[in-house]
Amino acid sequence: MGHTRILIDTDPGVDDALAILMAHRQADVVGLTIAAGNVGLAHTTANALKLVETMGASTPVFAGCAGPLLARPPQDAAFVHGLDGFGDIGYTPSARRAEIEPAALAILRLAREHAGKLVIVTLAPLTNLALALRLDPELPSRVARLVVMGGAVTGRGNTSVAAEFNIGFDPEAASIVFSAWPQIELVDWELTMRHGIGFDTIARWCAADDPRARFFDAISRKTRAWSQARGRRHLMLADPLAMAVALQPELVTRAQEHHVEIALHGVARGATLVDWENRSGKAPNARIVSDVDQARFEALAASAFGTD
Ligand code: BDR
Ligand code: CA
Repeated sequence: MGHTRILIDTDPGVDDALAILMAHRQADVVGLTIAAGNVGLAHTTANALKLVETMGASTPVFAGCAGPLLARPPQDAAFVHGLDGFGDIGYTPSARRAEIEPAALAILRLAREHAGKLVIVTLAPLTNLALALRLDPELPSRVARLVVMGGAVTGRGNTSVAAEFNIGFDPEAASIVFSAWPQIELVDWELTMRHGIGFDTIARWCAADDPRARFFDAISRKTRAWSQARGRRHLMLADPLAMAVALQPELVTRAQEHHVEIALHGVARGATLVDWENRSGKAPNARIVSDVDQARFEALAASAFGTD
């Protein structure tokens, strides 16, 4: 389908799952490269394979690094996504297997095969992409766009005071990517908080007579309950928001270009430090998405379940 060619680096994860479903409805997905993050690599890989099976797709799945590049793995996000990352519904594992090629090498090969056309969307800690960049610093020159879900641009973190999960899980990897990539389209946690989706809307999507909707309904129940128990009125769908920006850049209504670097030490470890006032004189390396058209975002997300 579609013409946009997308490679998704992901750690599924409930919100990753919705983003992956959206991408398969709207674009050509050339591969899923898998990171550890929300839960361990064995689960995130099994979840990706199950999702591909549920969609009846043939997208190759490439397993990546089992943990951060340097640091000890911090706390995962099983308390949000379930111990297996997919809501602990006890699904029958897919008979499919991951490819033999490791994720970082698959990123490099696919970027060459689709040179100038590939959109990379990262929905996970940046471990695989950092490793690929270390192997081949020319990688950005072959990639059309890099959309990153990560960061908390004014320091309102969701995993520590200042850090967002994907960056905070592997700050060294994030630092490698932000130091080397000339222009990152950044969809951060604070934008996600401004663009949650109402639980009633999600329930309507989940009621569709469609195997993808039934699967998402099942795997998202725990996360929705956890979120509602915290008094939230909306579900925060970070990865679908990043995917929406990747699929339909015109739904961005406001964006700002600034230099962003990653804090590696102290209480701010894993924070995205934005040079809002251009004090460093460093060229912008990020286009920070500050607003999107909510109606278009919701329509795109709904399309994951065949309702467009
Ligand atoms: C990010 O962390 C993960 O838990 C989600 O899947 C998303 O990628 C949000 O901070
Ligand atoms: Ca994710």
